Amino acid sequence: MKTVVIGATGHIGTSLVPRLVQAGHEVVCLSRGQRAPYEDRGIWKHVRRETADRAAEDAAGSFGARIAALKADVVIDLICFTAESARQIVLAIEERTELYLSCGTIWVHGPSVSVPTTEAEPRRPFGDYGTAKAAMESWLLSHSRVSGFPVAVLHPGHIVGRGWVPLNPAGNFNPAVFETLARGQRLALPNLGQETVHHVHADDVAQAFCRAIENRAAAVGESFHVVSPAALSLRGYAERVARWLGGNPDLEFLPWEQWRAGVSAEDAAATWDHIAHSPCCSIEKARRLLGYQPRYESFQAVCESVEWLIENGKIRI
Ligand SMILES: NC(=O)c1ccc[n+]([C@@H]2O[C@H](COP(=O)([O-])OP(=O)(O)OC[C@H]3O[C@@H](n4cnc5c(N)ncnc54)[C@H](OP(=O)(O)O)[C@@H]3O)[C@@H](O)[C@H]2O)c1
Repeated sequence: MKTVVIGATGHIGTSLVPRLVQAGHEVVCLSRGQRAPYEDRGIWKHVRRETADRAAEDAAGSFGARIAALKADVVIDLICFTAESARQIVLAIEERTELYLSCGTIWVHGPSVSVPTTEAEPRRPFGDYGTAKAAMESWLLSHSRVSGFPVAVLHPGHIVGRGWVPLNPAGNFNPAVFETLARGQRLALPNLGQETVHHVHADDVAQAFCRAIENRAAAVGESFHVVSPAALSLRGYAERVARWLGGNPDLEFLPWEQWRAGVSAEDAAATWDHIAHSPCCSIEKARRLLGYQPRYESFQAVCESVEWLIENGKIRI
């Protein structure tokens, strides 16, 4: 099976490409060539590398034709962000592609209603990113219903793994939060610390894409959450990190306005985005239809990221 991965050298691609090669796919990896995968176990020698700027070629209207020319059986699109971009590629490849897998996000959901949120919940996204991804999903699934084009949309949670800073217990990406917890110093959390975050290990995201290929008939026309088995509250996450790193959790809880005044504008904006969504998503559909079995619980997945931060001197504890 010839499989093209668009956006192949990032969080997801680093795990997905080796999995595809091991499963016997002939893999073509597309990226701008600006970054290398986080890990190179030698397997990248076995893939063909294509260099292109998707944003520029989308704007020029030529990206779909580039992918169509590769004559792939499966196209895994990790970097599609709008309905228009999806429309361009699908109209170009639909004649011969057997499966098109698109990467969404759990932020296609806005505020939770009943948790864990299922894929069947009406979409109420907010913010440019989630709103555009929801429009992309909606266009893809309606086009699939009308034309029979074989598409599935996979919605990851906050992706973590070795090589980058994980979403922390304050709901932002400031690595110093882990140092504060490890030293048993006081950490302020917004509100009551009961808002949630829902991580997923990058390798579990890769697993889900592979399962969707293996279970094509069940996947087509559907969307799936791809997260760990359970979300974490900020408070529970902070307590677990502190104990794991040898600190005693010393948490205080501040009303939002007071909390935001004590952190940088960047951290406050990231935390607001995460707690306003407070995702808690169900993976029952992916388990049932795709056989998705995440190897990592949220906390285990985060531990790998934090170990990487420590080993690489990104944090000192
Ligand atoms: N990160 C998360 O926590 C998270 C959560 C939910 C959903 N998602 C979804 O996951 C997808 C991103 O996957 P990821 O986290 O693996 O991405 P990533 O780590 O940001 O990697 C992006 C990949 O795409 C390539 N790329 C970036 N811009 C490009 C362009 N204009 N043209 C061609 N290639 C380009 C990058 O390589 P070059 O820079 O060398 O081009 C790299 O290979 C997105 O659809 C996002 O919405 C992410």
